[in-house]
Amino acid sequence: MPAPLKVALLGCGVVGTQVARRLLEHADELASRVGTSLELVGIAVRNATAPREGITGTPLADLLTDDAEALVDGADVVVEVMGGIEPARTLILRAIEGGASVVTANKALLAQDGPTLYKAADTAGVDLYFEAAVAGAIPIVRPVRESLAGDQVQRVLGIVNGTTNYVLDRMATEGLELEQAVKEAQALGYAEADPTADVEGYDAAAKAAILASLAFHTRVSIDDVAREGISAVTAADVQWAQRTGHTIKLLAIAERNTSDGVAGIQVRVHPALVPDAHPLAGVRGAFNAVFVEAEAAGELMFYGRGAGGAPTASAILGDLVSVARHRVLGGRGPVESSYAALPVLPADAARTRFQVRLDVDDRPGVLAQVAAALAEHDVSIEAVRQSADGHSADGHSADGHSADADRRDPTDVARLLLTTHAAPERALAATVAALTDLDVVRDVVSVLRVEGA
Ligand code: NDP
Ligand code: HSE
Repeated sequence: MPAPLKVALLGCGVVGTQVARRLLEHADELASRVGTSLELVGIAVRNATAPREGITGTPLADLLTDDAEALVDGADVVVEVMGGIEPARTLILRAIEGGASVVTANKALLAQDGPTLYKAADTAGVDLYFEAAVAGAIPIVRPVRESLAGDQVQRVLGIVNGTTNYVLDRMATEGLELEQAVKEAQALGYAEADPTADVEGYDAAAKAAILASLAFHTRVSIDDVAREGISAVTAADVQWAQRTGHTIKLLAIAERNTSDGVAGIQVRVHPALVPDAHPLAGVRGAFNAVFVEAEAAGELMFYGRGAGGAPTASAILGDLVSVARHRVLGGRGPVESSYAALPVLPADAARTRFQVRLDVDDRPGVLAQVAAALAEHDVSIEAVRQSADGHSADGHSADGHSADADRRDPTDVARLLLTTHAAPERALAATVAALTDLDVVRDVVSVLRVEGA
């Protein structure tokens, strides 16, 4: 057997702990798969003396160090699971320049500065693998990067953030408001103490950028992704979605498109109504799924656990076996493919169907004025649903309150639910502005995109 490969682990948190434990517990099997043993030579953390569940009292405790630079310098393979931009970037570049292969789960870094890392790895002739950076355990990076390399991907549509999927699912199944559902997600350890990265869509946007880069052979950074989180989604939105046969999901979408005659791609993250019949509508709890449409392959769906220590460690160890095999047998994994360099088109040119909920005066001619506002901006109406006094046909107010309480103070308000045919975002935005200016429109209650129809 060739000499053991020295593996340096940067980080021993949720993911790193599971990677370390599995390296220890499955050492023999991993050695058989690689062709030599993987020797974990150290684990870099901020505080090497702090007690750690799953590490303290095991042989792994002796490997903890707070000198990440020294650890990287002696390694054949560096596994980076510390997260954040710095010092992760400097350590990865140091590892690459020193001739080590790198496995990372760091979506934030890849989405911000991936090309710098890819270029360094290419120059040094080493592997840079990152399956765990998108959707945890789900094999999606490799399928898009390698298995579909002979096809033309048209569209990638994904639920890539487990926390927000859990929150939206609880809102749908238990009627919770967003804040309550986020608290539940925090109690279960899905959401961080500061849930902003998940709730506001930054985490999903980073993953969208990585997937778009791979799918369309184009450099896409997180700054290219049009991002809207779920913080404005209400329990009433979720209930209305259910009544119309939809489920609200936070989607990451990357697709080929044309704007003003220019062919390019659009990458966006936002909540959307997904028809209940679509496979993504059935993705429950904290699970993730990615739906890929390719010219020759047709529709593909990848589903599984997108987060958590053990699921994420699975993806990391898969990468580790691959890069280690290359070091034993020779050869290299794929390098960055950005030859297509497609323009990233403006977000407001994306074409989508919309559902718009309006509170309007309930009197003759109102519908005509609303319809005229849409027609003026070339937005075509697919369906209109009206309920009087702001109440739906099932006797509940549109905001989910009992109708009886409101009946004591009857108003002349009607609630309109408009569904449009596909229209450019910019046309819809202009339409909403026009509707807001109409005297007969009391409130534009919500505007939601409809995807996957
Ligand atoms: P944690 O915060 O749980 O762990 C981070 C680890 O890195 C800790 O051990 C910490 O040390 C160490 N660390 C952080 N900064 C430094 C530093 N400057 N020097 C030395 N060590 C440092 O993160 P996770 O395990 O949750 O995530 C790790 C990576 O994996 C991130 O990039 C994340 O985006 C990605 N990822 C995470 C998933 C998940 O479900 N958690 C899923 C998919 C990807 P100390 O313990 O001493 O503080
Ligand atoms: N916070 C992420 C999620 C997990 O909720 O999916 C790490 O990617």
